[in-house]
This record gives sequence, C-alpha cells and structure tokens, in this order.
Amino acid sequence: MFIPQSFIDDLLARTNIIDVLSQSLTLKKRGSNYICCCPFHNEKTPSFSVSQTKQIYKCFGCGQSGNVLSFLMDYSHLTYIEAIEFLAKFHGMEVPREQNNRNSKNNEYAAKNKAKNETYEKLTAVMQKAADYYYSQLKQSAEAINYCKERGISGQIAKFFHLGFAPDGWNNLKALCDNDMEKYNKNDDLLLAGLTIQHEEKKQRYDRFRSRLMIPIFDTKGKIIAFGGRILSKANQHNSEMQQHQAKYLNSPETPIFVKGQGLFGLYQAKNFIRQNNEEIIVCEGYLDVIMLKQFGIDNAIATLGTATTSQQIRLLLRYAKSVIFCFDGDEAGRRAAVRAMTNALSEIADDKILQFAFLPQDEDPDSFVQKFGAEKFREFLHNPQKTLTLSKFFMQHLQNQNQNQNFDASTAEGRSQILNEAKNLLPLMQKSPLLKIQLIKQVAEITQFSEEEIRKFCESNKSQKSKYQQYQQYQQYQPNQQIQQNISPPKTFIPKKFEKNISIEFLILKILLHYPNLLFDENLEVASFPPNSEAQLLLSNLQNIALTNFDVESAKNSQKFYEVVNNFFDNSCDTNTKKLKTYFEKIKFNSQDLPLKDFQADCFYFHQLLNNLKNGEQRIWQKQRINELQQKLKQNLISENEKLEFLDLLRMQSQQK
Ligand code: UTP
Ligand code: MN
Repeated sequence: MFIPQSFIDDLLARTNIIDVLSQSLTLKKRGSNYICCCPFHNEKTPSFSVSQTKQIYKCFGCGQSGNVLSFLMDYSHLTYIEAIEFLAKFHGMEVPREQNNRNSKNNEYAAKNKAKNETYEKLTAVMQKAADYYYSQLKQSAEAINYCKERGISGQIAKFFHLGFAPDGWNNLKALCDNDMEKYNKNDDLLLAGLTIQHEEKKQRYDRFRSRLMIPIFDTKGKIIAFGGRILSKANQHNSEMQQHQAKYLNSPETPIFVKGQGLFGLYQAKNFIRQNNEEIIVCEGYLDVIMLKQFGIDNAIATLGTATTSQQIRLLLRYAKSVIFCFDGDEAGRRAAVRAMTNALSEIADDKILQFAFLPQDEDPDSFVQKFGAEKFREFLHNPQKTLTLSKFFMQHLQNQNQNQNFDASTAEGRSQILNEAKNLLPLMQKSPLLKIQLIKQVAEITQFSEEEIRKFCESNKSQKSKYQQYQQYQQYQPNQQIQQNISPPKTFIPKKFEKNISIEFLILKILLHYPNLLFDENLEVASFPPNSEAQLLLSNLQNIALTNFDVESAKNSQKFYEVVNNFFDNSCDTNTKKLKTYFEKIKFNSQDLPLKDFQADCFYFHQLLNNLKNGEQRIWQKQRINELQQKLKQNLISENEKLEFLDLLRMQSQQK
C-alpha cells in the first residue's frame, strides 16, 4: 500500500508546524521565530528554534532539525506512516491508499521515468541485436576482414570492441525482423534507435549504415547506445572522389538513448582497468586511436566522438581517475580542440586532480605513433614534461597565444591588457579548484603587471553564466553554523534503527545521499574514497550516474523523487551487477517512506565529518591492504612499473598521515 505524494504535499501545506509543536512544547515568540529549550537534549537556555515561514525547526545546541513529520517521528517516536496518519487526523482527513506506487496516476513523475527506462531498455536491446548482426557479418566479408588486416586490427581486438560490418544494401537489418520486409518497415525501435531512416515520399524505410565498419559505442553500464561507421577505404580524408560525397565516418544521430556530447568511446571497456590500477585516462580524438592503443597493450585510452570534449565528459572522467591526459594531433585543428577542452575543463578541475595536454608531432595521431614507435615510446611521450603540458602551463600559453594570428606581446600595454581580457573570461570558471586558481592569478599578475587585487576585481565583474551545478550550490548556500560546529552529534534520523549497531560509515553516507541527492555533487565525495570495487563504490557511482542524467534543481531538492528514480532504475535494470547492488540499496532504504526533509546545513556539516572520517580512518585500512598486496608482488618480483610508483605513493601517504 502506498500513500500518494500529492496527499502528503497537501497535508503539509495545510499544517502549521507551530500548532503541532505547541501541543508538546512551550514555544515563545522571538522575532519571526519561536523558541524553547530543546526537547532532544538537556539545556537551560533555549537554543531550539522553530520557523513559521520555513515550517522547520532546528536546535543550535545539538543540531537536531527537521520538519513537522520528522518532529513527530523523533519526538513522539512515530513511524513515517503513523506521523502522516496523526497529521491527517489533526485535520480530520482520511489517508488515501493506493495499491501500487507505479500504477498511481498521482505519480506522474514515476510514470514518466518508467517510460524513459522502458525506452532505454528497448532501444539498447535493438542496438545490441544490430551489433551482433554486424559482428556476424564482419566474419563473412572478405573486404571488411581485409580492411581490418591492413589497418593492423587483430581478430581478438575486433572481438574486444565488438566491431562489425554493415554490408552493402538498403534493407539488411530486416534480418532482425524475421527477414520480413513488412515487419522491418513497421519496426519503430529500429527507427527510433537511428538504425533505419524513413524515406520522405515512399512509405519505406532503409538502413542508415551501409558498407561500413561498425564501431559500437557503449555507455558506462555496458549498453550499446550508438555506432560509428567507417567507410572501408584506406585513403586519407581529402583525396578520393568517393570521399567527397561520403563522410569518412557516419555516426548514429542523437536518439532518446544517445546524446553526442556525452558519449565516450572505450570508457566502458577501460573503466575497470583504470579503477583497479588507479590509472590515468588517455583521451584521444579517434576511435581507431583507442583501438590501436589497446592492440599495443595500452588499456586506458578512450575517445570523444568527434566533438570537443565537454565539461560533462570531463566530470565523468574525473570520477574514474585522478589524472586525465588529453592527446591531440600536432596540427592547428588539434590545437583548437585542445583550447576548447581546456576551457571546458576549467569548471571541472579540482585541486586534487591533474589534467594534462599532449601534442603529438605533426601528421601523427596515437594510432600512427604507436605503430611506428611502440607502446613504451608512446607512454614516454605522454610523460615528457616538454611535450605534455599541465593545465596551468597550457592555460598560460593560451593567454599569450590565443590563436595563430594573434600573438599577444606581453612587452606592450596593449598585449598585457588583452591577456587579462581573456583571463577574466576563464578564471571565474574555476569553481572547484580554489588553490590552482590562486596560483594562476599569481602567474597572470606576473606577466601582465596587473596586481592580483586588480585581476580578482576584473574577474568578479565578469562572472560568466553559471552552470546548473553552480546555481544549485549557491541556492543551497552551505555555511556550517558556528554553534553546530562546536557540538557535533549525528542527527538521529540518519541512523537506520535496525542497523544502529555495527553500522559502517559507507552505509551511513549512502543513506545520507539518498536523503540528499544534491550531495552527490559534493566535491569532497569521490568514488575513490570507497574501497576499490566494493559494493559501496559501485552503488555510489551508479547513484552519481543516475543523478547526473536526471539532475535538475527541483528533483534534487526532492529526495522522495530521487529515491523513486533510483528504485525504478534497479527495478528496470536486468544487469546482474545492478541486481547485486539492489540488495544493498534495499538494506539502506530500510523504510522507503523514511526520507524526511530536514534542515540542510546541520546535515551537510555532519556529512562532511563523515567524509573526513572516511578519508582519514577507513581509507587507511584499504591503503594498508593495498600496500601488503604490492609488498607481496615486490617480493615475488611481479610488480609492474606503475605499481612501483603506486607503492611509493602509498608509502608516502602513509608516512604523512602519521
Ligand atoms: P579521425 O579522422 O582522427 O578518425 O577523426 P580516426 O578514428 O583516427 O579514424 P582513421 O584513423 O582515419 O580511420 C576523429 C574522430 O572524429 C569523428 C570520429 O569520431 C573520429 O573517430 N569523425 C571524423 C566523424 O564523426 N566524422 C568524420 O567524417 C570524421
Ligand atoms: Mn586515425
């Protein structure tokens, strides 16, 4: 049985928190608020404050806070349902019940989301079927096999990336429809997924991809969301006549499951390796670069899909790795792409992350480089500080050399002003890296002869349009209250009653995240703060992904809605991996209705305490385990170069902690 959210909203709208709390407490008016001695801890002077306008209470002594429902639960020890029934009685209303939350008409949001999930399942299923078909065709086409051979793609690698071949012909995909032309023309999943195209005049459809090497693009859950299709011709971009009519690559159009600026080729295949080995991510420009690097044993390369790297992509990448190297061609186009990636990276860079920009020699791409010089030389190249620039170096270089025909001469007043003119557009973007920002301001001051004060002032007056995330942060205005800081005790409702004993800190954090999905975007929260490959880590990355795709200010405010999104995600996913997570999630929810909206600040502060504990306490245990593991490997002489570096880092970290 399920109580419709609309009823609960209505109930809360009718209720005045002062009326309910006055039944148990002696409230005195003070300014616009009401105060009394806190019922949750012993005190002589009142620090318990109730706001009539906000309909919430908060104790500045013990941090206890919430709305009328959480008061009834915490003070009167009612369950969430009982609290609603109590309030309904208070207003002489009857609580409506509905059979099932998903059948409820009231629950438009859940319904909409369910439809979205169904579309996702349906379209990714048809993409998978098409990919399997293309894969089987590759084996049968001498032409395609030859092409792969010429490019040096082994059968093993073709299998690893599930490469395929779309044969020539207009309606090959009818193979997916029992070879029935009528079924093919009516199959809307094929059309919606962008695999077929509707002919404008005739009532017929035809295959989008013909005579192309097919490269499937997976999302991070392992579902195929798009294809890149390459013509089978060796020739380079500009020459053959054929290519004047035909683009080298034909990619899937944007569909309900594919947004071009969000996809990343190869991340699904590389992400576990990257996480397990704490590897950096190498971002290339082309599919074939990633494929060839993999063939040469470089397992941590991914590619954008022919668009400039977006902030969203960089944010996603920084969830998987602490260090990202963008690898660009050495030509002017590569340089331009790098500038755009750098600009988009500024809003995502954090002080504990490293972004670097590598520029390959003229006329080389990672594919040709690794084939000519081998994997070791490629790695060396990426780690050569002369060739690979840190974000800050590239930033400074860009300011002075904004494009090919505009070199700004820092020896003239005009040049120096123009440098600052560009810097003032970029520096305000650096919201997640306050320290690096100060460093850059100092460097800009040095070359422009403006004072740091002046630079800050100009940047201030030029705050560019804020991102959604930034708007949201501002909206929440997280400023822990001084009094709360002195007296930290966890708000009671955070601790699921059944798990009060032996509750792990990860558990607690995940529970808090369900209450406050917006905290998923907290910069101190990292997938890496959880034990590698633990269920907590997997669950967190899933929650972050879900929030990322469904995130908007309104729904993040409403934890009930977020909870439903997560619930639906688990309900509708048939991934075995997520099935395991679901049991974990079920444990956390302990009472699906128990998601009180509580005062943000105190809880936020407590959340940070937990994260700190996690960083300083729990993380050390994992570090120790990893150190032991590496020590064993070292003894047996099985340790790789990267692991040696990791080992040294871990030892250094350990000694710093002591
Ligand atoms: P590249 O030309 O570097 O492609 O374009 P590549 O993957 O290295 O392919 P080869 O080596 O020529 O076979 C980089 C990326 O730009 C997009 C693709 O995503 C490609 O991987 N692109 C390029 C297109 O979408 N359409 C095109 O016509 C060309
Ligand atoms: Mn290439």
